[in-house]
Amino acid sequence: PVEVESVQALAASLTTSDHIPTRYSRPEAESEPVMIITGDAEDDIPVIDFHKLLDPELSDAESSKLDLACQNWGFFQLINHGVSEEVIQKMMLVIEEFFKLPLDEKMLVKQRPGQLEGYGQMFVISEEQKLDWADILYFCTSPLHLRKNGFWPTKPSTFRDALDKYSMEVKKLSNCLLGFMAKNLGLAPAEMARMLENGTQYVRINCYPPCPEDKKVLGVSPHSDASFLTLLLQVNDVQGLQIRRNDKWFPVKPLPGAFVANIADAFEILSNGKYKSIEHRAVTNTEKERFSIAAFHGPNFNAIIGPHSEFVLEDEPLYKSLDYESYMKLRYASKLDGKNFLGRMKL
Ligand code: SIN
Ligand code: FE2
Repeated sequence: PVEVESVQALAASLTTSDHIPTRYSRPEAESEPVMIITGDAEDDIPVIDFHKLLDPELSDAESSKLDLACQNWGFFQLINHGVSEEVIQKMMLVIEEFFKLPLDEKMLVKQRPGQLEGYGQMFVISEEQKLDWADILYFCTSPLHLRKNGFWPTKPSTFRDALDKYSMEVKKLSNCLLGFMAKNLGLAPAEMARMLENGTQYVRINCYPPCPEDKKVLGVSPHSDASFLTLLLQVNDVQGLQIRRNDKWFPVKPLPGAFVANIADAFEILSNGKYKSIEHRAVTNTEKERFSIAAFHGPNFNAIIGPHSEFVLEDEPLYKSLDYESYMKLRYASKLDGKNFLGRMKL
């Protein structure tokens, strides 16, 4: 990976009339149409009530809703998810505190050459490539023996505990949700459970500083996520996530406290394309810093990622099969580029 400077520091050095460095400027960010949201619920991203999924009386109906959301959108909001309010509040607090620290304190957990964890940027693989307007904290949070504590901030002093509790609760939620999704597809629950045994969870905390030329930059380049399922939480009330839908960018307005869930590439592969990962990006604004927490959930590193035999009885397999560890290595060596990485996995 190529080292680049802190975007927070860069943003702080610019006045409102300054131009951004050309490496951040992306003409295409401005030219693609963004959908105007009319407020019509029919056209909005589906909302799934996790509490209903667990209720024996309501589960079937909610599960069908989940299936439709996965088929038609690949994105949904999750309410009544059961992740404790306190755990979420504490996580949000330590994130804001960490990014308020002076740069030299943040640099204590800086990424090291050849590694992704810690404070820095991601998917920068060449000196020429355009850069995203964001600083990132990235951690492996599961399985526990793969955690690298040295990259977990000790300032604020509650950071590690907050991340530990947050990641554990979110992982439980994700496992359960993946169980329902697998069942909807007709996969045996035991098989999904086996893939999720020692399952991986990575947490990416995004800090998007305000940008004087906000329309020219992207907080995150268009991409689809790599794993099975992403659970994203917006930390403060600033919007920025957009998903690609009918060739337009569709702004997501998260409900307070809800997770935004999305299907990622490995799940598209597993389902042989029955559920599709959706391209998304993040935009910035001129005034407010934005934070989000993305938790990525995948199988264990030994699991084989490929179209499940259940789906290739009648249909041809559409994707290659390989172990999850090799798959992720390939992924980390590529830049974010729409759904092109998944394209390379097609047969
Ligand atoms: C991401 O997709 O990596 C981040 C999206 C967001 O911050 O809303
Ligand atoms: Fe993403």
